Amino acid sequence: MNKNMDFLNLILDRRSCRAFSPQVPDRPALAAVVEAGRYAPSAKNHQLCHFYVITDPALLTRLSNLVSRRLDGFAQKDCRYGAPALVLVTGRKDNPCALQDAACAMENMMLAACAMGLGSCWINQPFYLQEDEEMKAFLADIGAQPEEFACCSLALGLPEGPLFPGRRERTGNPVTWLTGEKNN
Ligand SMILES: Cc1cc2nc3c(=O)[nH]c(=O)nc-3n(C[C@H](O)[C@H](O)[C@H](O)COP(=O)(O)O)c2cc1C
Repeated sequence: MNKNMDFLNLILDRRSCRAFSPQVPDRPALAAVVEAGRYAPSAKNHQLCHFYVITDPALLTRLSNLVSRRLDGFAQKDCRYGAPALVLVTGRKDNPCALQDAACAMENMMLAACAMGLGSCWINQPFYLQEDEEMKAFLADIGAQPEEFACCSLALGLPEGPLFPGRRERTGNPVTWLTGEKNN
């Protein structure tokens, strides 16, 4: 199998991970994942995402508890599934493409994590809480500027189960080809 096929299969076989070993991944592995995020395309190449790599257990617990307190349905749940690392991606409020830029970074990071043997899962609760005062205080405490807002976050860690539990078939996302030819 050539390299291109390996990469396409990685895309098709990537799955979200929701059970993590408590062991924090090596810093070089985390750094490689975040670098993949940094190298994502961005609108006008403005590169306005900020990546907060959180492995501090106190901060991780604070964020999980904040979500449990502030969002319905999370009272008894850890929104990050016990992941020992979380990359919080912020964008600038004055960037009209902040969410698109962050999403490109997220997909790059999810694929890079997979390639490095790490499990990952998109954690959206910080985005839902972007107007919440406690979330704003959390962002300020980790060093974010007032013009930043939480776009999304990525839970990262060594998976408790298999990294590739099986391809998840897609039945949605229809494709329409418009080629101008009669039989296409
Ligand atoms: C925008 C977005 C938000 C998501 N938010 C969450 C989330 O908050 N918690 C979670 O467990 N998974 C979240 N996911 C992961 C999806 O549930 C997951 O990608 C989907 O079920 C497909 O499964 P797969 O990633 O294993 O292929 C999110 C994914 C996206 C793209």
